[in-house]
Amino acid sequence: MVVSSAPGKVYLFGEHAVVYGEPAVPCAIERRARVTVEARDDDRIRVHAEDLSLDGFTVEYSDENDDAPDVDVSESLIQAGIGYIDAAVEQARDAADAPDAGFDITVESDIPLGAGLGSSAAVTTAGIDAGTRELGVELPAEEVAERAYRAELEVQDGEASRADTFCSATGGAVRVEGDDCRSIDAPDLSFVIGFDGGEGDTGELVAGVRALREEYDFAADTVESIGDIVRHGEQALTEATGEQGGASESESLRETIAELGELMNFNHGLLEALGVSSRSLDQMVWAARDAGALGAKLTGAGGGGCIVALDPTEGTETALEYTQGCETAFRARLDTDGVRVED
Ligand code: PMV
Repeated sequence: MVVSSAPGKVYLFGEHAVVYGEPAVPCAIERRARVTVEARDDDRIRVHAEDLSLDGFTVEYSDENDDAPDVDVSESLIQAGIGYIDAAVEQARDAADAPDAGFDITVESDIPLGAGLGSSAAVTTAGIDAGTRELGVELPAEEVAERAYRAELEVQDGEASRADTFCSATGGAVRVEGDDCRSIDAPDLSFVIGFDGGEGDTGELVAGVRALREEYDFAADTVESIGDIVRHGEQALTEATGEQGGASESESLRETIAELGELMNFNHGLLEALGVSSRSLDQMVWAARDAGALGAKLTGAGGGGCIVALDPTEGTETALEYTQGCETAFRARLDTDGVRVED
C-alpha cells in the first residue's frame, strides 16, 4: 500500500495575463490531497472518496478496454474527482507498463473543491505517484507533472493549464510562461486564504477578458502591465530568498516581503479593471488589507472563489471569517514540498 499526497496552489501573480503569453507565478500551499493505493489481484478499480463530495462515495469498476468506468459516473462525481482518479489510474498503468493492474483507492483532501485552489490537480498528481509506486515504479516529479497534465487534458476535454499540475508535483513557487514551467526561488510566505463558497466560470471569464482586450487598448495594456508586475514580483522573490536565513528578521527582508504584498494589491486592481473580480472577492480583499495584510488579491479565474492575502500576523483569518461574503478562511504557508510519499 502506498499513500502519496500533493499540495494545492494559489496564484501569487499573473492569472489571466498568462493566457496571452505573460508569465505567472503560482505557489503551492500547505493544503493537500492524499491518495492511498493498494494493488488488487484482479483488474478492478475501487475508489472511495471520503471528502470529495458532501456524503462521500464508493465506486467500483473494471475497465478492460482502457475506457471510462463502466458505472454511471455523473457529472457531479466527475467534478468530485472520479474522472481525475480514472485518468490517473490510466497514467500509472501506462508508466508501469501494467495495463491490467487493479487498485483499491482512497482519496482524501483538505483543499476546498472548485475554489481555484488546484484540488483536482493535487488528486491527479498524488494518484499517479501512489499508483506508480505501488507498481514498483518511481517517477521524477517532472514526469508526474507531465502525466498529471495529460490526465487533466483528457478529463477537461483538451482544456488544461500546466500550472496547477506542475506546481502540485514540484511544490514551491513556479514560473509559468506558455508551456514552459519551472521552479523559482521563494522565501517563506505566510498566506491567508478566504473562500466565498462559490466559483466563477473560468471559460466565460477568460472569454470576457479576451473580448475586452479586443475592444479596448486599455485592456491589452492592462494585460501587459500584469506581466510587468509578475516580473517585479519574481525579482522580489529572488531578493527575499537571498535575504532570508541568518538575517531572517532583517529590515530589508521585511521591506521586500512588503513589496510583494504591494505588487499583489496592484495585480488585484488590474484584475478588477479586467472585470474578473466580484463583490465578495473585493470585500474579502479589503477586509484582509484592513486587518493588516501586506497585500491581497483574488486568485485564479475570479468571478467568485478565493482571495489570497500575504500576512505574517494573526489578524487576517479572523477578520475574514467575519466578512460578509466569506464562507471560510484559513491560514496556509507556501509549501516547498510537492508530491510526496506519506508514512
Ligand atoms: O481558477 P484556476 O486556478 O483554474 O486558474 C485560472 C487561471 C487563468 O489564467 C484565468 C486561466 C488559465 O488557463 O491560465
